[in-house]
Amino acid sequence: MIIGEKKIERPLRWGIIGGGRTSNVGYKHRLGALRDNTAYKLTAAAFDIDAERGKNFGFQLGMDPSRCYPDYKTLFLEEAKRSDGVEVVTIATPNGTHYEICKAALEAGLHVICEKPLFFEVSQGEEIIQLAKKQGKIVGVTYGFSGHPLLLQMRKMVQNGDLGEIRMLELQYTHGFSATEEGDKKSEGQKWRVDPKIAGPSFVLGDLSTHTYFMSRLICPDLKITKLLCDRQSFIKSRAPLEDNAYVLMHYNNGAVGRLWSSAVNAGCMDGHRIRIIGSKASIEWHDNQPNELLYEIQGQPVQKMIRAMPYLYDECNEYERLGALHAEGLPESWSNIYLKFAIAIDAQNRGDQKTLDNLIYPDLVSGVEGIRWVQNCVRSADKDSSWVDFN
Ligand SMILES: NC(=O)c1ccc[n+]([C@@H]2O[C@H](COP(=O)([O-])OP(=O)(O)OC[C@H]3O[C@@H](n4cnc5c(N)ncnc54)[C@H](O)[C@@H]3O)[C@@H](O)[C@H]2O)c1
Repeated sequence: MIIGEKKIERPLRWGIIGGGRTSNVGYKHRLGALRDNTAYKLTAAAFDIDAERGKNFGFQLGMDPSRCYPDYKTLFLEEAKRSDGVEVVTIATPNGTHYEICKAALEAGLHVICEKPLFFEVSQGEEIIQLAKKQGKIVGVTYGFSGHPLLLQMRKMVQNGDLGEIRMLELQYTHGFSATEEGDKKSEGQKWRVDPKIAGPSFVLGDLSTHTYFMSRLICPDLKITKLLCDRQSFIKSRAPLEDNAYVLMHYNNGAVGRLWSSAVNAGCMDGHRIRIIGSKASIEWHDNQPNELLYEIQGQPVQKMIRAMPYLYDECNEYERLGALHAEGLPESWSNIYLKFAIAIDAQNRGDQKTLDNLIYPDLVSGVEGIRWVQNCVRSADKDSSWVDFN
């Protein structure tokens, strides 16, 4: 159980780029990082593409205005001059900026926490893996749903053979918020998501389903995709070539098969994020809108609903619960868990503690690059008239 006591010697001096007043995701980062008050101290920021608005936002958060910088380059330059400069930065800007900011942050000697989808191309990811290694720095990726404790229960159940042989993965992340074109014109956060120059090679596959893909890998770490087929559509024509809906079929190395539905045009759907793992003996199913419950269905037995934090769950799951079973947890706790793990990884890296790094399960740089690889394979298949492609 986590109750906010310190896991590292002192809070890390933390900066954030993007995530300003108008951003979708900024508050989630601050919720995640600052919840425990023992892992991070918000020290500096370049919150906004509009420098004045960014500075004012920092002031409203109670920050030192002299450390709310007009842009990330100034932040890196000025903070490097201080003995109490930032040690880690979060990148919460639109996709097309991640690569250049991440590279600059590592070159400035900082650890990085970066939004997904990490970059546009696997080659960029491989370059950053080398750079992070050279600099001795951690890059974490904010797959923000992946800190829900019940996902670790699912992982352990798969590992223990509770489901038997894994046969099928049913994955879905869909919503209906982009069912019309209206938002593409009115919302700043939606405009860039349908512009390939800023969003990258995909819309919903990168924006939504890299989360679900990572979660499936977290639950079934031994399953590797051998080939896949992706069929993607732009129901709102102006979004082409970027898809607002996609179906992906996957074959895995153990003979299992998977099916993923990704959509922003599932009209009427507020939150269709679900993971069902089906084995030869039993199935488990988790829904993002009921994150405190795990359905456990054993063939021939009554259906069971497992509840977060109950003592019958595996220790590996309950280690990350915070509030006890009487109270619901949600997305803020999930983000807090992954931010805490980033802090533990950074601290271990600074101390040269390889054992801690090897045993820590969190969305790391390799997981971020695997997300790019998956999107790249999906797009390659879709562009070949939705034919099967070997996963590479
Ligand atoms: N992990 C998650 O659950 C999650 C949720 C939403 C968004 N995201 C990701 O977060 C990123 C941002 O998405 P969003 O929805 O918050 O976008 P947004 O358009 O709502 O906000 C972007 C923010 O970045 C700022 N910005 C843009 N360029 C900048 C620059 N060069 N320097 C400093 N600030 C800059 C903008 O002023 C704004 O504050 C995207 O990569 C997106 O995929 C992740």
